[in-house]
Amino acid sequence: MNKKIVAIDGPAGAGKSTVSKLVAHELGYTYIDTGAMYRAVALKVISQNKPVNEDLIVDVAKDIDIDLRYEDGITKVFTDGEEVTGKIRTPEVSKAASDVAKSGFVRQRLTELQRKMATRGGVIMDGRDIGTHVLPNANVKIYLTASVEERARRRCEELKAKSLDVNIDEVARDIQARDKQDMEREIAPLKQAEDAVLLDTTGMSIDEVVNEILKLCSD
Ligand code: DC
Repeated sequence: MNKKIVAIDGPAGAGKSTVSKLVAHELGYTYIDTGAMYRAVALKVISQNKPVNEDLIVDVAKDIDIDLRYEDGITKVFTDGEEVTGKIRTPEVSKAASDVAKSGFVRQRLTELQRKMATRGGVIMDGRDIGTHVLPNANVKIYLTASVEERARRRCEELKAKSLDVNIDEVARDIQARDKQDMEREIAPLKQAEDAVLLDTTGMSIDEVVNEILKLCSD
């Protein structure tokens, strides 16, 4: 099978990264988590301890160095040489990532990096605008979603596993607010590409979703 480019988009907590990692492993592909890149910019913006505005966001995004390294079965994220893998997964950074993702400057910079990462093929990239904007010629496009309740439940489990204090109603509200902002922003909003396959994973096991995607990749 020749090396394909696979684009997976969808709202927060749909399971994109979990299944993308497993599919990448099965196919021997590289997994690229574009959300981690927006999160890395957001963490650096927050860490400046200054009022957040477009000038500050552009200033940070201008020369930030983001590196995704796949080591020991996980994608490690480095910002300017410092590992930030754990620090970018807090609810505060999730919200800030959706905020900085509205910036045209940030989107342009990260889109360029993402396109470069995909040039050799054999990649599975997940995010919000991969099939619609970053890689419109991807061989396989999937729009992965699930009910808000299911997505909130999954996110809670993830956060609990990291010993973070969680309230499911709060997590559901955060997810809905973030989806709204990601779907309504002006530049490259979250939406299903016309040629993407819709996969609603509510009630599906991880294995079922992975098998479904592998089938689509083998067509
Ligand atoms: O997938 P995630 O939850 O790690 O993404 C964090 C935020 O980054 C998400 O709310 C919107 C933004 N994002 C984006 O705008 N475009 C992408 N390709 C990936 C993420």
